[in-house]
Amino acid sequence: MRLSKTEKMMLEGRYGEACKRSLELIIAIAESYGCEGLIKVKSAHVSGVSYKNIGDAGLEYIRDLVEGGAKVRVRTTMNPCGFDLDKPWLFGVDETFFKRQLEIIKSLEAIGVEPSLTCTPYYSDNKPRRRDHVAWAESSATIYANSVIGAYTNRESGPSALAAAITGRAALTKDHTDERRPSVVVEVLAKVSDYSDWSLLGLVTGRLVPDEPPLIKVKRGIRATDDELKCFSAGLGASSATSIFWTAEQDNQVLHIPKRIAVTSKDLKRAREEWALTRKPTVIFIGCPHCSLREIKEIAEKIKGGRVKKDVMFIISTSRSVYERASKLGLLDVIESAGAHLVKDTCLVVSPMKLSRNEVVLTDSAKTAYYAETMTNATIALGSRRVCIEEALEM
Ligand code: F3S
Repeated sequence: MRLSKTEKMMLEGRYGEACKRSLELIIAIAESYGCEGLIKVKSAHVSGVSYKNIGDAGLEYIRDLVEGGAKVRVRTTMNPCGFDLDKPWLFGVDETFFKRQLEIIKSLEAIGVEPSLTCTPYYSDNKPRRRDHVAWAESSATIYANSVIGAYTNRESGPSALAAAITGRAALTKDHTDERRPSVVVEVLAKVSDYSDWSLLGLVTGRLVPDEPPLIKVKRGIRATDDELKCFSAGLGASSATSIFWTAEQDNQVLHIPKRIAVTSKDLKRAREEWALTRKPTVIFIGCPHCSLREIKEIAEKIKGGRVKKDVMFIISTSRSVYERASKLGLLDVIESAGAHLVKDTCLVVSPMKLSRNEVVLTDSAKTAYYAETMTNATIALGSRRVCIEEALEM
């Protein structure tokens, strides 16, 4: 493998033990992909922050890095943790979870990782520029960075993103070159008009072509917003191994790709039926991935003056930076005076919230529905954002 002078010095341990071990990990990954070398990255985004996901083994791994003198060399942000740091009571967190979660965050901060605690760092905390090379974990953020922003990143894991942050290097795979290309055209024959539709379309696409980077061709006249593409990225990341998708702007873009599949209204309907709402929801969750300020404004407008039903917990999650801006704009007051909870730092999937068999969780995110189903005994339902809000409010 071709290594620069600095990389060789890192391997010799001249930048400390943690940097040496981190570079060894990046090299092992690069070798497994047959890469010729490494690439310098401008930023990193680390997943595997919730104690629920990484447990004691993950905490031990991070402790070792701190003891080995690790420091990040590039701007690095953190994915969500197990609870809102200002409202841990909302998520049924016990003392052990609370302490270990705080230790994970403090240890990552000691390394230099910013406590952004969001899966949407691109909304303000850490937004790459087009053609920047970065090392991002969190599948929804990785796919968004490559496909919507036009940056280059591998689909990093928690440990590899951390190693990339510490060394400033990532494996120079095809994902960091212009050789990345779509291998299948996904013709969308269904109408997609809501965040939930986009998220489900992502999930269904990933199920149909789980290992291939797709080019999405929607009906003429439909143009997704960046927030909708964020939802698509999350759905796709949940069911597919791809790190990127493309959207077809012109018909001639699809001519040279022989493989084609179609997603019809029936496909989406069938997937929706897996998570049909058959009983009154007790928990309603919006914000996977974390909501943008624009989404918070839309939600606040819809629930203004309303009242959340007594037996419903309505949670809307966002990033710290969006939360602060929403608070300054008075949107937090609007949401909380209706009885809903605007939370930051976490989400339903990474929180340890215990939901019994009697609970019915309604969400507009196919990614949350997909993961929540395997993590809880509660019944999971998928609905549009409009349905989520209508079910939450007293009529
Ligand atoms: Fe983000 Fe949690 Fe969804 S980390 S993408 S809100 S599962």
